[in-house]
Amino acid sequence: MPIHLRPDWHLPERAVTAESHWRDRRQFIESMVAAVGLGSICLAAGCKGTPQGHPDGPLATSPETATSGLYPVKRNPAYTVERPLTDPRVATRYNNFYEFSTAKDDVWKRVDRFEIRPWSVKLSGLVENPGPVDFEDLVRRMPLEERVYRFRCVEAWAMVVPWSGFPLADLVAWAAPRPEARWIRLVTAHVPAQMPGAAEQAWFPWPYHEALSLAEARNPLAFVATGIYGRELPKQHGAPLRLVAPWKYGFKSIKSVVELQFTAEAPRTFWNSLAPDEYDLHGNVDPRVPHPRWSQASERMIGTGERRPTLLYNGYGAQVAGLYRG
Ligand code: MTE
Repeated sequence: MPIHLRPDWHLPERAVTAESHWRDRRQFIESMVAAVGLGSICLAAGCKGTPQGHPDGPLATSPETATSGLYPVKRNPAYTVERPLTDPRVATRYNNFYEFSTAKDDVWKRVDRFEIRPWSVKLSGLVENPGPVDFEDLVRRMPLEERVYRFRCVEAWAMVVPWSGFPLADLVAWAAPRPEARWIRLVTAHVPAQMPGAAEQAWFPWPYHEALSLAEARNPLAFVATGIYGRELPKQHGAPLRLVAPWKYGFKSIKSVVELQFTAEAPRTFWNSLAPDEYDLHGNVDPRVPHPRWSQASERMIGTGERRPTLLYNGYGAQVAGLYRG
């Protein structure tokens, strides 16, 4: 059966939404509102309480939970980036999360029905300590810290954001892998009734699933994010917990994780199964290897549109190149 599955990032780079245009338009509208004195009308009508009106954008409307008070957490100075942070109002409205929408600027508008409590993560497969782990118990026990990472999508857009969370290595240690474990298969929740994108595009091989080698998962850079910009993670970024592997293309950084399955063999992964010539298993950022339909030599910063050369391993070679030698 011919399958024609084209992810959003099959678009040529020139066709990808230019947030700088969007931002310019938004700033223009905001300045017009202020200029004609509509700010007070807006306030009276409650516009300030809407994601659009708030300086933090959709972050401000993330639901209060029993663990939102844990944030902000202390920044770890070992993980900083020489580039300016991406504006949170841009990052939180420009998301890849196909379970909700294939349109990046629609994801944050379609997450309301997604229930993120109670939430548990199943540790399964080749581990000494299997079983469900309650998310709130986990996040309270883990050493939370903030890290500023570069983040590079395979579509050639990039951002710099402060994630809060804990090293994936700590969760691996919790699971206590058996000696024969070599890989981890990570799985996203699949609840079509709460995920309009998954319901509309039922032919995708849901649930979204990804994989890291155990060595990659134990690398100190591999991070479980539970927060962003000093707040608990909003749903569009993968609440309540998601992977951040900053030396890899963003499709590896799986969101809203419900299971870590430890295996001996390399697991299949969502995009690699659909289009292996476009999304390889490792997904390491490499400017020398073009995507079949566009160059990966440079990247575009969302929010500003600035172009920068792509860095091998997204600039994290000193930390991770050793994983791939030989
Ligand atoms: N995880 C799930 N479950 N579903 C997805 O569609 N998209 C991936 C990744 N994780 C995706 C996912 C891609 S392609 C990218 S670039 C990042 O999430 C985007 O993360 P962000 O929206 O927090 O910037």
